[in-house]
Amino acid sequence: MNDDVFSSLATCDRETTQQIASVLHSRRQDPDQSQMLQRFLTAVDVTSGPVLEIGCGSGELLADLCDRAPATTVVGIDHSVDLLRMAGRSSGTAGNNLKLLAADAHRLPFADESFSTVLMYTLLSHTPDIRSVLQEAYRVCRPGGQIAVLDGDYASTDFSLGPHDPLNACVTAWRAHYVVNTHDLRSLPRLLEAAGFQLVQAGAHDYTAAHSAYAYTIIDRGVDTMLDSGTIGKDLARSLKDEARRRAHEEGFLGSITYRFALARRRPSAGTAPRTA
Ligand SMILES: C[S@@+](CC[C@H](N)C(=O)[O-])C[C@H]1O[C@@H](n2cnc3c(N)ncnc32)[C@H](O)[C@@H]1O
Repeated sequence: MNDDVFSSLATCDRETTQQIASVLHSRRQDPDQSQMLQRFLTAVDVTSGPVLEIGCGSGELLADLCDRAPATTVVGIDHSVDLLRMAGRSSGTAGNNLKLLAADAHRLPFADESFSTVLMYTLLSHTPDIRSVLQEAYRVCRPGGQIAVLDGDYASTDFSLGPHDPLNACVTAWRAHYVVNTHDLRSLPRLLEAAGFQLVQAGAHDYTAAHSAYAYTIIDRGVDTMLDSGTIGKDLARSLKDEARRRAHEEGFLGSITYRFALARRRPSAGTAPRTA
């Protein structure tokens, strides 16, 4: 069964929220993840009017957006009030024209055509109804505005060095507990077009997990899932976590995940010039 911790963060306990915030922060610090994110952001115009990040979490991407668009209104929404609180306290988001709001991505509390840019960074892999989230994004996007999506194609996650590698069993347990939409991002361009957007650009990035705190969280969260369910005991749990670290050091490789991105536009309305903030 797949229960996706991220899709239930609105109602989970503080400890889980803290753990997730720490995972998101470690991902932001991972050099390969950071490079991918910067390359993605370079292709997005965040200065042409109000920007919305749906599923902003603790604000790891908001800090970049505020940096890149100091004169633009940046709005972050998430269904976790606790993560939003952390986003508000983060030094990277201080002093900017930033607004934070608790809301569900399936029902956005904004008027039609409110934003020039709508961003989603690893949101759609966690929302039960991708189509309704994209329809909402289309509704709040201005004519001529853009949507930018970067997300994990988590079905591609492979942490094996050979057949029957036990670390890949950890990945399977991690995915079952943390990702509800394991394959859907493969159809991202078609999903955007179905919501009404015109595709501008789409592509993929191969993330290599090596010696990094974020890479270890994937194995550790999978191991803890198996430990909590009683599938394995404490000794094996410790050994699997040790093996991940040994491997990253000795082999220089722990695993890989394909990430997919797409940029698309809402058609300009006939006779209207693009608006600014
Ligand atoms: C993987 S995290 C990404 C957070 C942030 N974009 C980042 O990369 O640091 C996914 C985020 O989406 C939020 N989320 C999941 N489902 C949501 C929903 N239906 N409405 C609003 N936020 C949601 C979670 O609370 C979480 O903060």
